Amino acid sequence: MARQKWGSRWAFVLAAVGSAAGLGNAWRFPYMAYSNGGGAFYIPYFIALFLAGIPILMAEFGIGQGLQSSAPKALGKISKGAEFIGWWAVLTGSIIVFYYNVIMAWIFNYLYFSFGPAWKGDPKGFFFGDFLKLTDGPGQLGGLRWPIVIGLLIAWLWVYLILRKGTESVGKTVMWTVPLPIILLVLLGIRGVTLEGAATGLNFLFEPNFAKLAEPRVWANAFGQIFFSLSVAFGIMIAYGSYNDKKNDVANNAIITALGNSATSFLAGIAVFSVLGYMATQMQVPVDEVVSGGIGLAFVVYPQAISLIPGGAVVQSIIGLAFFIMLLTLGIDSAFSLVEATEAAAGDKFKVNKKTFLVGFSVLGFIFGLLFATQGGLYWLDIIDHYMGTYALLVVGILESIVIGWVFGAEKLREYINSVSEVKIGAWFDISLKYIIPIVLISILGLNIYDEMK
Ligand code: PHE
Repeated sequence: MARQKWGSRWAFVLAAVGSAAGLGNAWRFPYMAYSNGGGAFYIPYFIALFLAGIPILMAEFGIGQGLQSSAPKALGKISKGAEFIGWWAVLTGSIIVFYYNVIMAWIFNYLYFSFGPAWKGDPKGFFFGDFLKLTDGPGQLGGLRWPIVIGLLIAWLWVYLILRKGTESVGKTVMWTVPLPIILLVLLGIRGVTLEGAATGLNFLFEPNFAKLAEPRVWANAFGQIFFSLSVAFGIMIAYGSYNDKKNDVANNAIITALGNSATSFLAGIAVFSVLGYMATQMQVPVDEVVSGGIGLAFVVYPQAISLIPGGAVVQSIIGLAFFIMLLTLGIDSAFSLVEATEAAAGDKFKVNKKTFLVGFSVLGFIFGLLFATQGGLYWLDIIDHYMGTYALLVVGILESIVIGWVFGAEKLREYINSVSEVKIGAWFDISLKYIIPIVLISILGLNIYDEMK
């Protein structure tokens, strides 16, 4: 059977941007920038983007497209022994989507909670108590939280429906799930910056603290953010590239994907910090006291800010809805891209019927996800997320860059990329792939292990 193809160049680029721009852009990036030097963080951020992020993205697009294979098969074609790296990548991605979809399930619930809003004056008590009914530790799973189970079912059903017809249904979906969250971020940003105190919040985000740049951790965070944010080292971009024609432009597409992803992050930073500034002003506390990232930002702090926004319940409900629809549509393309990477890998290797695989995987994902839908689920989510981000992703990135850079040969790959791309890339690409990426990732891994042992 012929390999499926993207219907257009834009279907591919939007799917790639969609995978890259996810929950991490909205709740991880603003907090990262704020806590790693504010405006000064953009220096390591852009250095990481150009020195490592864009080259690895080009490499993944190039390998997938050139070898017309998903990650395990492509790496296996380069060297028989390297196939396992691809499997490791998709396995890590699978585990991630098992809990990513649980967060999607929370968001579905919060769409509903936005009416009213349901959290009233106490979003923290509402989230941990009323909603999660969180127990005291990971050892106590308690019971299943049925609203989360239902949300999880919807999330998997949605992923299934999007992937059902492969590139065709994905292509149709990303035409709206990629622009919509960006439009909503702009609208939320406009509401944000016109609130009293917004400037105070934005100052916290942008005021540069150059002294921070002396800390190795800040640099590690910048590279880590870029890798995570571009969805590389999970086999996703290799699979997506493999559905392109061999003659498709690689360099340009990688640059557009990377810049589109960063633009989404900046918009999110403005939308989030303007509102945090307003909130701090209303509560008469320093901005530091209200800032948070991750789950705390999305389900506690931002809802609290919404409750303070003038205009009454209707306006607050609309802003809540806009915020959670933004998160949902931002996250969905990342979620299904993780599944697609595994599906592509399994399809290439075992010649399984893709639809059958998809049904099986979705059911499996739902069942595994139930662990995180228990009352102790949040603890498990935190623990597993920690190991995925701190180790699994880095190890894949190190091995992958070595196999592509040294065994396949960065020079050979660059020659191929240049033969199909409008923008010609120089020898910096080879240096990045062969030296910079492995060395930086090994250093980060070392730093993580060191921090963990402290
Ligand atoms: N890039 C996504 C984000 O920033 C996260 C993600 C990582 C998605 C890896 C898929 C794979 O949220």
